[in-house]
Amino acid sequence: MLTKSLKFLNDYYQALNSEGQDVMQGLTQTPKSLPPKYFYDDRGSELFEQICELPEYYPTRTEALILQQYADEIAQMTGACELVELGSGSSTKTLFLLDAYQKLTNYCRYIPVDVSRGIVESTVVKLQQKYPAFFIQGLIGTYEQALAKLESTFAASRMIFFLGSSLGNFNAQECNMFLKQIAKTLQVGDYFLLGIDLQKPKEILEPAYNDSQGVTAAFNLNMLSHLNWRFQGNFDLNLFTHQAIYNQADAQIEMYLHCQKSHRVSLEALNLEVSFVDGESILTEISRKFDLANMQQQLEIHGLKTLNTWTDPQQWFGLILCQA
Ligand code: AVJ
Repeated sequence: MLTKSLKFLNDYYQALNSEGQDVMQGLTQTPKSLPPKYFYDDRGSELFEQICELPEYYPTRTEALILQQYADEIAQMTGACELVELGSGSSTKTLFLLDAYQKLTNYCRYIPVDVSRGIVESTVVKLQQKYPAFFIQGLIGTYEQALAKLESTFAASRMIFFLGSSLGNFNAQECNMFLKQIAKTLQVGDYFLLGIDLQKPKEILEPAYNDSQGVTAAFNLNMLSHLNWRFQGNFDLNLFTHQAIYNQADAQIEMYLHCQKSHRVSLEALNLEVSFVDGESILTEISRKFDLANMQQQLEIHGLKTLNTWTDPQQWFGLILCQA
């Protein structure tokens, strides 16, 4: 059953040739950086699930509340449609949407997309049991791979959704390219549901990325163990420390791994040797904080017209439903 409901978008041989080019590029430039998608090996996805439960990490909880309250309204606005979720993880918040769509129709296709194989597998099994009338098909791959390989749908319309403010990982240019690809993938009349974290005081933002239990630090450092097994590397996690700061001017959280001692690291599979100096940092993630009205304009540029927006009472998090 599972083999039929999972698709691997990442052709193994192609992966051997081209994968890791982004790692190579990031580690050979100054200042050094690494793409946030390397957080999410199976262990990283587990750590992220733990982050979502932290008292300081408000985004997941806040977005879940909005979805809980408005999922029925969203479903009624779009009507029955095929659901495609980018970066689905454990699909926990998605249950509110699936419940709402189940009330509208007795047959629905849900396509969760994630780079982490373990989490897609377990999510598909869990959801197939909970929603026997749904056809659940997991895609394992990046957003780009998924958007490029989505087959045309039999359903009358489709809704792509991108929750949790994962859009915040993209800089302005990447964000633009991503929205362009979304718009290209959608047919006229199709929907895009976007969850974004909104701008707010530093006093709330910084603790969310510097939790007292150190889970975010472990999540950040885990990227190095991921690179170690994936590219035969020898990063010593003890030589790096976690830092997250809010860059007010650019309205973004910046997460770094700070090197504590000058040393060299090799990644054999990439034929790469990198030197680090004491105090040097690797930027592992930006998490942009958005303005709701501004984002609606961005979407509009790509032909995505806002139908409605929802927020929580504190206006910490926003959901935008738009239509191509
Ligand atoms: C999954 C990218 C939305 O930026 O808040 C959480 C990732 N990083 N804690 C975010 C994350 C550190 C998260 N996103």
